[in-house]
Amino acid sequence: MGATVAVLPGDGIGPEVTRSAVAVLHAVRPDITCVEHEIGGAALRRGLPALPDDAHATCERSDAILFGSVGLPEYDSKPLAERPEYALFVLRRDYELYANIRPVRVFAGLEDASSLKPELVRGLDLVVVRELTGGIYYGKPKEQRNDDGVESAVDTMIYRAPEIERIVRTGFELARGRRKHLTSVDKQNILETSRLWRRVVERIAPEYPDVRLEHLLVDNAAMQLVRRPGDFDVIVTENMFGDILSDEAAILTGSIGTLPSASLGTRPSLGAARATAGRQFGLYEPIGGTAPDIAGKGIANPTAAILSAALLLRYSLDDEAHAARIESAVERAYADGMRTADVARGSAPVSTNAFTEAVIARL
Ligand code: IPM
Ligand code: MG
Repeated sequence: MGATVAVLPGDGIGPEVTRSAVAVLHAVRPDITCVEHEIGGAALRRGLPALPDDAHATCERSDAILFGSVGLPEYDSKPLAERPEYALFVLRRDYELYANIRPVRVFAGLEDASSLKPELVRGLDLVVVRELTGGIYYGKPKEQRNDDGVESAVDTMIYRAPEIERIVRTGFELARGRRKHLTSVDKQNILETSRLWRRVVERIAPEYPDVRLEHLLVDNAAMQLVRRPGDFDVIVTENMFGDILSDEAAILTGSIGTLPSASLGTRPSLGAARATAGRQFGLYEPIGGTAPDIAGKGIANPTAAILSAALLLRYSLDDEAHAARIESAVERAYADGMRTADVARGSAPVSTNAFTEAVIARL
């Protein structure tokens, strides 16, 4: 066996939660080699680019990337290329990681941590499929301007049909393996890109007659997610809508610290090139941010990072058995009352390390 994983902890709580994820990963797969690099603000501070060359080189020879988080308030006024987020921006673009899969689950016993009524979120299990390499994040022109002393700025939202087709297929395929319900989210009453999006979805839908398709406008989708979250199975949407809706979906679980994500593209993992087919290179990361206010205190919730490691095993290393074992260990840790501060709601919270140990003990 054996595999190489590039570990990029990043900033804020990134390093502490990534350490938890690596500990859990090694507990089930000691054969995996993890190669760690500073990226984001940690690299910028040393006068390096957000994604230094040696980190990029390690990604090149790895089967997958385990990512922490990037972004610090001190860089807010800098242009994108000089901000920590640029590391993520480059990796998504260079490896064409167009399919961002964000599974949202409410663990048994955690219903009361949600800001919604427990009966609305009990057993919640949905997936947000976000297009990750197109749309307004990457469209050109994208710049600040100053014409005759008047400041302006432009971002460009652009999609080509093939970019929509492949992510919509990801959505349909996922739905097919679940409760067979796909919700496509757009803003087709206003945006041309959304009109194209909807046309492409309609064109592909006949290939999946077993999947029930529903279209929602993004503003309505934001409302329905808090009104009837249990009615969603798989949500597929473009880059920025997916960014916003996935934070909203995440907090349904009570904490953004519980949501992992997988970003997949077209590059096979190196292991796949050597051995089995079907193993995809991917980047795995918690969807939440760097949480600078609690960084370094040892209280962050490592669930999202640990579950990201499980997704890495599932999608990049074709190791469903260990992925499922990690997920059920996390589930049992929650069932046994282990709570970090973000979801403690009055009960005594445990530290990042104690939660991690609790997961490892239940593997
Ligand atoms: C996410 C994050 C990123 C994004 C930031 C850190 C650039 O919010 O992964 O959801 O906007 O995509
Ligand atoms: Mg986001």
